[in-house]
Amino acid sequence: MFLVRLVLGNLGKFFLFLVSWEFKVDEVFIVCARFFKFGVVWEVMKCIVGIESTAHTFGVGILSSKDDSGDPDLNGKILANVKDSYTTSEGGMIPMEVRAHHKKTSSGVWSRALGDAGIGEEDIEVVAFSNAPGLAPCLLEGMDFAKRLAKRLDVPLVGVNHCVAHLVIGETVGAKDPVMLYASGANTQVVAFEGGRYRIFGETLDLGVGNFIDSIGRTMGLGFPAGPKIEELASEYDGELLELPYSVKGMDVSFSGIQTKIRNLILTRNSVPSKLGTKVPSSSGKLAFALQENVFAMLVEVAERALAHTGKSELLLGGGVACNTRLVEMCRIMCEERGCKLFVPEKSLLVDNGAMIGYLGLKIWKTGLGTLDYGSVDIAPRERTDEVEVLWE
Ligand code: ATP
Ligand code: FE2
Repeated sequence: MFLVRLVLGNLGKFFLFLVSWEFKVDEVFIVCARFFKFGVVWEVMKCIVGIESTAHTFGVGILSSKDDSGDPDLNGKILANVKDSYTTSEGGMIPMEVRAHHKKTSSGVWSRALGDAGIGEEDIEVVAFSNAPGLAPCLLEGMDFAKRLAKRLDVPLVGVNHCVAHLVIGETVGAKDPVMLYASGANTQVVAFEGGRYRIFGETLDLGVGNFIDSIGRTMGLGFPAGPKIEELASEYDGELLELPYSVKGMDVSFSGIQTKIRNLILTRNSVPSKLGTKVPSSSGKLAFALQENVFAMLVEVAERALAHTGKSELLLGGGVACNTRLVEMCRIMCEERGCKLFVPEKSLLVDNGAMIGYLGLKIWKTGLGTLDYGSVDIAPRERTDEVEVLWE
């Protein structure tokens, strides 16, 4: 019976391939990938799509949502994770320009994701998208895309909180009950699951650590995003450590004082005081190095205090700033000293991405929370991590 289904299914795809040749190159690519790459197992699989668009990135993740072949590993497996991010060579993000970027790149990202996953649109049974929190114009663009897609396919729609998705994707690397250091552009939080919700144990009192790094990068003329460039500059520097303000207040951190200090050093004096009180020529490397050592020590301190407070023994990293090798190294040292396990997802899952939205969307949908009433789903630009009701397993 299975063999008959397999032969008929693949013949059907071959027929579809011939027909689609007449009409659409994209479709041909997708059907080809499906026909030649996956064959048997994919025949019985359904998928969820996760769409990310809270800020600079338009991303599409495709994951298997159901598997009838009896292989439990296929459930929630990431089949594709494609993105296109807004960048600049100078200056920061302008929300309406970012929205225009998402509008322009969305159909290309979508086609590439279908091709990578080797599926066709008919294999999709649910659409998830990040509806909170983020920049309103970007969220609206993602929601428009998600609603149009769900409507066209006549499948349920699920709204997902982006910050919680950063946390839950940690399961894929083995984190079970972690404290999460969530260090991204707009967010800096230490979060853990307690009493049925993701509670924020500590956070930034002003700007997110990534936005802080990007603002320093802007002053240095590095463009957006500045994090990887600051990391490169810091790694090339081999000199004394410049002292900067250290700003931990209880479980919280703050960056604005450090931001002012570094900006002043760059703009007004174009030189930095050494420990001896004399002036030495400024160098971006020296500032980048001092920035990383100082600010990451602050993050590690509050993460460690949250581990001590909750009694948990796992630290999970999330957010784009967690791509930084020095931050990971400092966290690893702290975890080793405390006898804790450190979990660091691969970079494509640390930064903003559609796969994490699909992963959490799948859990939410499986609790019965998807809807065909698309009008009832809206964006929530300011929703906080601890406002999200955790109804999934
Ligand atoms: P969120 O909405 O969760 O706040 P986000 O929009 O900031 O996310 P992410 O992709 O999670 O997006 O993080 C982007 C940030 O990560 C940018 O500020 C960028 O400069 C920073 N970043 C990326 N790579 C590095 C790195 N290697 N070192 C330091 N910072 C980095
Ligand atoms: Fe993010």
